[in-house]
Amino acid sequence: MTKPKRVGILTSGGDCGGLNAVIRAVVRRARDYDMEIYGIKEATQGLMSRPVEAELLDIKKVSGILRYGGTILGTVNKGNPFAYPMPDGSVIDRSQEMIEGYHILGLDALIVIGGDGSLAILRKLAQQGNMNIVAVPKTIDNDLGATENSIGFNTAVTVAVEALDRLTYTAISHSRVMILEVMGRDAGHIAVSAGIAGGCHIILIPEIPYSLDEVCDRLMNRALKGFNFSTMIVAEAVKTPSGEPVKYTNSLGQSLYGGIGQYLGDEISRRTGMETRITTLGHVQRGSTPSALDRILGAAFGVAAVDLISQYKYDRMVAWVNREIIDVPISEAIAQYRAVDVNGSLIHTAVGLGTYVGEIP
Ligand code: F6P
Repeated sequence: MTKPKRVGILTSGGDCGGLNAVIRAVVRRARDYDMEIYGIKEATQGLMSRPVEAELLDIKKVSGILRYGGTILGTVNKGNPFAYPMPDGSVIDRSQEMIEGYHILGLDALIVIGGDGSLAILRKLAQQGNMNIVAVPKTIDNDLGATENSIGFNTAVTVAVEALDRLTYTAISHSRVMILEVMGRDAGHIAVSAGIAGGCHIILIPEIPYSLDEVCDRLMNRALKGFNFSTMIVAEAVKTPSGEPVKYTNSLGQSLYGGIGQYLGDEISRRTGMETRITTLGHVQRGSTPSALDRILGAAFGVAAVDLISQYKYDRMVAWVNREIIDVPISEAIAQYRAVDVNGSLIHTAVGLGTYVGEIP
């Protein structure tokens, strides 16, 4: 087998803190194996463009980027190549064009940084098109089961904790209930971690049903005990008590989470007379300067991904388990979804602190 020489790298799906740290680590490690690293623009879109949109990344191009938010390569979280939306409204299969892009570039391997959705698509492309891929997990939602941490999660939590600290000061000044709505799609990991670190009195996540009566009682009890404020964090996918997700459809027809914080705030004020204010953190959680942990994880994942390629170990994802880097088959990684463990240590900790986390079954 000839040694892998030309290696591509792309970021796919929603951006987050730590992506540039991975890219930098890949380029730096590649020197040890005489590999050339080609940064592909805008995820699979770059492979579909003609000429293919990619640039040779040398050590100077990645100098200092580990502290930048976002991704220097750009990314997309739509445009599935197998069902690609065309301007005329039709949907076509453009997978072959992306596969050709890989071969036009003459790549020996491709490093894909993505969450479960992107990894499933890239794996299908790889199998169909004889492409060698190695995956690096990233998602602020942290819902990939095979790794304890994905790139971006810790940064998102850090941003949410900063927000809670600020909200707490103003809550105390004005004697209010402050509600912070955070991202996480269908998983409550950001809400649980930030809620504990930010000292929230109530944490609501999609994995645990809750009672609005109990939420109101808890807030009233705090007030009766002489506390003039409370803070509450709610994950965007928490449903209303009647089981409805709170979503809206924008003018492009995209259905997005958003509004459960406002819904709960209105209900709490109506039922208790307490003044509430709502902050929806949104994409601030994604665009931040990466935390120290995400830079460390990015560095470790980047180095490990290049090492895998040097050993011809393809179709695998690097992962962080028990303070070590390991690698697992991508098929296994995308099959294991990780929701918050209702019986796990973090929920136990929150309950032990006296925080209301819902009605644990
Ligand atoms: O999956 C990551 C995530 O940030 C979710 O937490 C959030 O619901 C979603 O992406 C937002 O996506 P978009 O960037 O398309 O608004």
